[in-house]
Amino acid sequence: MHTTKPAYNPLDDIDRILVDEITIKNRLKELGQELNEAYEGRDVAVIAIINGAIIFVADLIRELSIPLQLDCIRVSSYRDNTKPMQEPEVIDKIRLELKDRHVLIIDDILDSGNTLSRVSQMFQAMEPASLKTCVLLDKKTKRSVDFEADFVGFRIPDEFVVGYGLDFAERYRQLPCIGVLRPELQNPPEWS
Ligand code: IMP
Ligand code: MG
Repeated sequence: MHTTKPAYNPLDDIDRILVDEITIKNRLKELGQELNEAYEGRDVAVIAIINGAIIFVADLIRELSIPLQLDCIRVSSYRDNTKPMQEPEVIDKIRLELKDRHVLIIDDILDSGNTLSRVSQMFQAMEPASLKTCVLLDKKTKRSVDFEADFVGFRIPDEFVVGYGLDFAERYRQLPCIGVLRPELQNPPEWS
């Protein structure tokens, strides 16, 4: 007899969905509108912090009706190794010239604030005409640096979330929604 193996479904590893697919889609339309109004008549350099912002930026820029150029920056996060709260390190630089440009940095989530404050400082030194940040998620945590994003998709409680670009050990980025991982699959204790 021929038996089929059950298909892998990343949703099986999710304890609870925090933001569903439709809610993300609707909010992205609104966020796109906010950005179209804020940047009306301007040409924007959009810089995505990858890998986390990949899905968000891909969907968000398709809501934008302003001229823009897209580039990516890769930043290593302390979450990629076991040492907590390590300074984020830029490991792949951008190619766009940012001097006198209107720069919009896009990231998946604002947590401690270390990543965005570090990247913002770095870009500020390139003398842009303006510099703003946009995040899909703002986690209600104690920031380790004083930093707030200019544009926010959703404010969420202090829980480890995956999906829609956010990962756990590079997995679950493909989920169309944002959810909390089942407790037994969650972070090693040193991450909390
Ligand atoms: P921050 O530097 O602490 O603000 O953290 C930003 C980075 O940490 C994000 O770009 C994510 O890659 C990662 N991160 C923070 N919280 C979460 C989470 O709940 N799930 C997945 N990644 C997270
Ligand atoms: Mg990550």
